[in-house]
Amino acid sequence: MEESLGPIEMIMTTRAMRRFTDEPVAPELIRRCLAAAQQAPSGGNVQPQQYLVLTEPAPKEAIGNLYRRAFDRYEASLPERTFRNDDQRQSWERTSRASRHLADHLAEAPAIVLFLQPLIPWGGRDADGSLDIGRLDASVYPAVQNFCLAARSLGLGTALTTVIRVLGTEALEAVGVSPAEYEIAALVPVGWPTGHFGVAPRKPPEKATHWDRWGNRDVPGASGQ
Ligand SMILES: Cc1cc2nc3c(=O)[nH]c(=O)nc-3n(C[C@H](O)[C@H](O)[C@H](O)COP(=O)(O)O)c2cc1C
Repeated sequence: MEESLGPIEMIMTTRAMRRFTDEPVAPELIRRCLAAAQQAPSGGNVQPQQYLVLTEPAPKEAIGNLYRRAFDRYEASLPERTFRNDDQRQSWERTSRASRHLADHLAEAPAIVLFLQPLIPWGGRDADGSLDIGRLDASVYPAVQNFCLAARSLGLGTALTTVIRVLGTEALEAVGVSPAEYEIAALVPVGWPTGHFGVAPRKPPEKATHWDRWGNRDVPGASGQ
């Protein structure tokens, strides 16, 4: 059934999945998702990222404990929220519960993929000074999303997360990576989801789109709008 979905439907139903069954994930499937990640665009085709795939209990436990501590601090730091309506409140509460669940159970995910970004000089420089060509992480996150999309096409759940960065140095050291050479761009748990893929609530694109000039919402050629 999954196979019959077209690419747009596949993209539309890729969302954060944070609850997984105990069923293991074959390394070959993760390798296929990493092949898709490698096809992502990067500035100057520099392909800066390295992947550290954790499947053994000990490193998953170590990262899981750090993730929980990082999430505890993040959660406690959140300001009181106000909501426009019940839908918004419920959506936020669902995300909070799922995020808490992931923080308490990360080590149980069949695999955890760390997307590592090298600490290298980036950007240009000319006689007038430094040239802003975008940040290096702009060359890593497309690979993360490619990974998540490929996983979804195989029926695997993922969630792009970054809160581990709160304890990023400890996390890198726990898995034998030098914090002087790399930072963690993303931590992605991978597993067979307990829930179903579906289209997540989002603002309609019209609310974020301007045509030809800032503030113009009229779609070219769509008369009477
Ligand atoms: C840059 C970034 C950082 C994120 N960090 C975390 C995180 O640390 N923990 C977590 O549970 N989810 C994290 N998320 C997932 C978001 O909460 C999720 O994408 C958002 O709530 C939409 O979820 P949905 O697609 O299921 O609606 C992160 C997402 C992004 C893009």
